[in-house]
Amino acid sequence: MSPEKPQSPDDRLQQEFNQWAAAGEGPKMEQHHLDITEKTLRLMDLRPGERVLDLGCGSGWATRMLARLVGEGPEGFGQVIGLDVADEMVRQARAESRDFENIMYVHGSASQIPWEENFFDKVLSVESFYYYPDQDRALNELFRVMAPRGRMFILINLYTDNPYSLQWVPKLKVPVHVRSAAEYVELLQKHAFDQVEWRQIPDDTPTPDNYKTTSFHSLDDLRAFKKTGALLLMASKPDVRVPAPGFTVY
Ligand SMILES: C[S@@+](CC[C@H](N)C(=O)[O-])C[C@H]1O[C@@H](n2cnc3c(N)ncnc32)[C@H](O)[C@@H]1O
Repeated sequence: MSPEKPQSPDDRLQQEFNQWAAAGEGPKMEQHHLDITEKTLRLMDLRPGERVLDLGCGSGWATRMLARLVGEGPEGFGQVIGLDVADEMVRQARAESRDFENIMYVHGSASQIPWEENFFDKVLSVESFYYYPDQDRALNELFRVMAPRGRMFILINLYTDNPYSLQWVPKLKVPVHVRSAAEYVELLQKHAFDQVEWRQIPDDTPTPDNYKTTSFHSLDDLRAFKKTGALLLMASKPDVRVPAPGFTVY
């Protein structure tokens, strides 16, 4: 009998998020992430014809919003790729997206994005980035698959500048990164992204007095968490086709 293969960090994530999917958590996340995602979509300035990656797409509700925004228009027919490490999430996303001709869901990891280079005009990632075991590798991959002048938008609810978010770390069953906005900016700049910006995106949905929270110590803490908001990181891939000043490309 051969010894059991040790579980890789991606296998562990797949197992955990397949459990979330089986428990019906995929579509429920829309409720929690919709407000901050809608605000982000407005900043993304999406145009018909664009190619977009939804990284860590879960059950695909945001992927479908993206697909509507980049669908058929005078500049062509935009495509959206939803990528997720949990095959059960991907299965659910596909089942919910049968009416869309411009979405493709792919099972895979941020650490090895199964796509060609210089392809995506925009990238959205909602509440997924802090789970990636090797964020440097994920950023190398994002840089590779993004088109020159492509722009990415990464939403992160767990970060030190929102101290209320730290209350739910002990409840998580997989390791996560907990960084500050300034640390994330430094990380993106290290990976040669430019026009690196960040802002906080508050969640303006009301929290009813009878709402039950298991993630926060109190409803007041949950309200304060929402008011402080998620971290939105924005960064562009430089146009590597443009030579540096003083250089000529033959
Ligand atoms: C908190 S859920 C958010 C899902 C979705 N974006 C949403 O807002 O509903 C995090 C998602 O990231 C995915 N994920 C975690 N690590 C990943 C990785 N290394 N590569 C790709 N997807 C990953 C999980 O499988 C899960 O579906």
